Amino acid sequence: MKIMHVAGARPNFMKVAPVMAALGKKNGIRQVLLHTGQHYDANMSEIFFRQLGLPNPDINLEVGSGSHATQTAQIMTKIEAFLCEKKPDLVLVYGDVNSTVAAALVCAKLLIPVAHVEAGLRSFDRAMPEEINRIVTDQLAEMLFTPSIDGDENLLREGKRANQVHFVGNVMIDTLVRLKKKANALHSPQQVAEKYNLLGSLLSKGYGLVTLHRPSNVDDPIMLTRIIETLLELSKDLPMLFPIHPRTLHRLKGLGIQTDDARLFLIDPVGYLEFLSLQQGASLVITDSGGIQEESTYLGIPCLTVRENTERPVTVTVGTNVLVGQDLMRLKSAVFSILNGGAKQGTIPPLWDGLASKRIANIMG
Ligand code: UD1
Ligand code: UDP
Repeated sequence: MKIMHVAGARPNFMKVAPVMAALGKKNGIRQVLLHTGQHYDANMSEIFFRQLGLPNPDINLEVGSGSHATQTAQIMTKIEAFLCEKKPDLVLVYGDVNSTVAAALVCAKLLIPVAHVEAGLRSFDRAMPEEINRIVTDQLAEMLFTPSIDGDENLLREGKRANQVHFVGNVMIDTLVRLKKKANALHSPQQVAEKYNLLGSLLSKGYGLVTLHRPSNVDDPIMLTRIIETLLELSKDLPMLFPIHPRTLHRLKGLGIQTDDARLFLIDPVGYLEFLSLQQGASLVITDSGGIQEESTYLGIPCLTVRENTERPVTVTVGTNVLVGQDLMRLKSAVFSILNGGAKQGTIPPLWDGLASKRIANIMG
């Protein structure tokens, strides 16, 4: 059996790595890794291949950035040729990025079965490009692997057959479980702080870790300015470390906000291992990332999500995640509540145990 994995953007790499490793232990499976090139900066792509132990991609489509239509269409056009050449028996797609839906669409027309890893998640907010990608990909996929039971409920309601849907747990957490100790050993929070010249201010009183890249937060200059002003204000009480996603960096450059004298430390995106250590050492996380809502829940670190909704409700109902929405007064009071000992306690959701990829491999093999 020949399986092709399609990955393209940062959050795909943590998901494809454990599935490839688990399938590699099965007899009779040949694997091909295709990188679409949606993300291409060294610290958005190559560093993850190294740190996660992924093989070099067999194919890189090098599509780069563009509007949704341009990027999706380029992936579709370029991937078609490779699918016809490599003739995989099955294609695995991951998460909810443009690379995911583009590959699923082409496979469906070529009658190549698709398996979707991280299926069934819904924010019920079609203003999010990822929600469109999730719905379309799940409609086209033959096999659907869900990280939480809400995923199964959504898929069955949308007409998928019960025998197509498999609740396997969270593959992103498989990577976290595997690399948690290594992350701490290689990049203690102290070492990372030293690297970025943040020692002292960061370690004495703790720090907040920030990531923001959703168009709803960063593409609107007024919203982005309000968020940065709020972070600057909060950083008087809690230093903030903010590895900046390239989308956000581009938007910030246009705003001319001064952060020089503040304790809001803007740094380049960091590798997986460094980011994992930074999460483990943080007093709290402020984010709009999907994956970081999950990782902070697993690690028991308070997470404040600057979004009105989440496609990962289990992080709120079971985990440490609180949706503060785009109400920045709420963000401020949630930060102070945590600093005053009022952090939400959570537990780890069912089947987030490091074995999700093994379950996938067993179902497929
Ligand atoms: C994409 C995904 C989003 C995911 C995020 C993870 C879609 C629709 N969006 O958003 O779901 O949460 O990745 O990080 O697929 N850029 C660079 N270098 C890079 C990559 C991007 O400079 O290596 C810049 C470019 O200016 C680009 C912008 O970032 O236009 C946005 O990149 P894009 O891949 O379109 O979307 P993301 O915001 O990264
Ligand atoms: N991450 C990282 N370095 C960073 C920021 C995030 O390695 O500077 C990791 C994070 O630990 C998680 C993943 O990137 O594993 C989440 O990806 P992202 O936030 O880009 O996408 P989303 O999950 O929102 O789709």
